[in-house]
Amino acid sequence: MAKDKNIYTCSECGGNSPKWLGKCPACGAWNTLVESVAEAGGAGKNRFAALASTAAVAVLADIDAVDRERTPTGHEELDRVLGGGIVEGGVVLIGGDPGIGKSTLLLQALDALQRMGRHTLYVSGEESGAQVALRARRLGLEQSQVRVLAEIQLEKILATLQAQQPQVAVIDSIQTVYSEQLTSAPGSVAQVRECAAHLTRAAKSSGTCIILVGHVTKEGALAGPRVLEHMVDTVLYFEGDTHSSFRLVRAIKNRFGAVNEIGVFAMTERGLKGVSNPSAIFLSQHSEPVPGSCVMVTLEGSRPLLVEIQALVDSGGPSPRRLSVGLDRDRLAMLLAVLHRHAGVACMDQDVFVNAVGGVRISEPAADLAVMLAITSSLRGRALPKGFFAFGEVGLAGEVRPAPRGQERLREAAKLGFSVAVVPKANAPKKAIEGLTIHAVERVEQAMQVVRELG
Ligand code: TYD
Ligand code: MG
Repeated sequence: MAKDKNIYTCSECGGNSPKWLGKCPACGAWNTLVESVAEAGGAGKNRFAALASTAAVAVLADIDAVDRERTPTGHEELDRVLGGGIVEGGVVLIGGDPGIGKSTLLLQALDALQRMGRHTLYVSGEESGAQVALRARRLGLEQSQVRVLAEIQLEKILATLQAQQPQVAVIDSIQTVYSEQLTSAPGSVAQVRECAAHLTRAAKSSGTCIILVGHVTKEGALAGPRVLEHMVDTVLYFEGDTHSSFRLVRAIKNRFGAVNEIGVFAMTERGLKGVSNPSAIFLSQHSEPVPGSCVMVTLEGSRPLLVEIQALVDSGGPSPRRLSVGLDRDRLAMLLAVLHRHAGVACMDQDVFVNAVGGVRISEPAADLAVMLAITSSLRGRALPKGFFAFGEVGLAGEVRPAPRGQERLREAAKLGFSVAVVPKANAPKKAIEGLTIHAVERVEQAMQVVRELG
């Protein structure tokens, strides 16, 4: 009998290598290769199967392209990130930290769909039927007609999907599902990839919309993960601090809609409720301005959000630390270098910590100016004036570049009672906005000068 052949699979990208290496040859990640047993390939018998019958070749113009019909889930914020609703045969991956509300949101969405007369199925691999029922009670859905299956074996789940033909099915979670065809443990990269591939195929052939729940590792990636992101149509991530009640759901990939759209929810005693006007929820409430805090207006997705950026600059040791929560750390290092070179503000011997309040993750560079102003404010121990905010991207040459849709950002801040702003020159409005004093700047040193003059 042939000996089992061991291969090494990357837990990040799923790439294979015949021997152990410190660095994955496929994605370059370090220390991610884990031993697994090579699955016997079906080679030999059906070597020419691929040649047997192929789909007809068609001219692009002759193919009927009907826009996919969307079914709204009845939860406006969820529909917003989904691009209008669920799509027949679409596969959605929804990731997030444990306890952030994935199961809650999906149960609420399924119940709403069931009420609209859709046929739904909730497959739970983590909780028993009784636990799901308990959650439904808590959500006030005692009479829910959602069908529940507590199962983790892929073949059985596929058989149930086949038999029940639901229009929407939730698999909670993909890491608990395992296939008998593979020898590796549930949750391993090979299992997750294989199971997701089978479920995706089932979705495409039956027209069922399948929503996969995925866990996130400590590093913030979906466990077993990138492979899944390629396979599915839509990837949504839950963000936010589990200690605060607000949750963001962000679309990071969407074949049927816009990416970077965000939905905002509040976790209440009775489940997640959409927040339709979220612009002010990420501001912490200081009665008087404090040093090291600068408000910015971020515009990810279609709505502006005001977020407070906090910085703490404190004397550090020989190798000072740069830490950021919710912002990119490499970007922080770059901003500190620009601050030093172009504005003469040195933090070489200081620890620098920055944080976006409320667990939001800001990826757009328009946060740069606010980060810099928060850092200098902390360093000087001087608060920025009351009602102050800033936004704008900063380049390596010290220039301040405009942020997209600046007018919308300014108007939103003015609406919330903000009164002083430092913004990129190109974002300065032609017509004055009532109640708002705008300082338009072209360079970092100019921004620093303005702030010094303000107090
Ligand atoms: P859950 O949906 O189980 O998270 P996940 O599936 O992402 O792991 O969310 C559980 C958390 O939400 C838990 O800490 C309790 C809280 N919660 C509420 O605050 N209100 C509710 O109505 C429900 C159902 C849960
Ligand atoms: Mg759960």
